[in-house]
Amino acid sequence: MNQANLIILVLFYSRHGATRKLAELIAQGIESVPGCDARLRTVPAVSTVAEATEADVPAEGAPYVEQEDLQECAGIAVGSPTRFGNMAAAMKYFWDGTATQWLSGALAGKPACVFTSTGSLHGGQESTLLSMMIPLFHHGLMVLGLPYTNPELMTTASGGTPYGASHWAGLDGKKSFTDDEKKLAIALGRRLAETAVKLRAPQ
Ligand SMILES: Cc1cc2nc3c(=O)[nH]c(=O)nc-3n(C[C@H](O)[C@H](O)[C@H](O)COP(=O)(O)O)c2cc1C
Repeated sequence: MNQANLIILVLFYSRHGATRKLAELIAQGIESVPGCDARLRTVPAVSTVAEATEADVPAEGAPYVEQEDLQECAGIAVGSPTRFGNMAAAMKYFWDGTATQWLSGALAGKPACVFTSTGSLHGGQESTLLSMMIPLFHHGLMVLGLPYTNPELMTTASGGTPYGASHWAGLDGKKSFTDDEKKLAIALGRRLAETAVKLRAPQ
């Protein structure tokens, strides 16, 4: 990793791996932009049992996000599985704990985008993507979607929306990623990184 490179945070929650795979495609798009490194981070699960706590370090996969990740990143992609048409509680809980960053404006002016995975095709991808944007606007992040110059948006019969990247995982969560879903996720990561580079350029 080049120390001078821009860090783009890919922050996701994933219970069964579909949103994690989408995060990896977004990271691939980010790393296709010279001078940009993707940093994959996750958030701990939450429990209905108030006393339960997660281990300090996840058993496998991306580390938990820390304050420095938010400070150091030049842009952020946020992903969650759809839960009843909205982001998972674990991701919402994470944002509920970011009052310090909100007060200091730590994220203000950085570019951002969102992604999700669902069990059913019309089970709330767009409502999840749009509602995931709300805390990002409060933080002053500059939220990006995907333009229809990506031709797959016109024809996709699976995931992929102008509001962000998405995957239709199927009821058993085993559907493969379609070419359209892959291309649109990579395009979104690339667009996020290109925007971060432009925003960091000397004025
Ligand atoms: C509590 C719960 C609520 C869910 N709500 C929805 C929903 O509203 N619409 C939908 O299509 N899928 C829904 N799902 C399915 C997940 O969104 C889907 O399995 C997703 O791909 C999981 O992502 P992951 O593999 O990253 O955990 C729900 C799953 C759970 C456990």
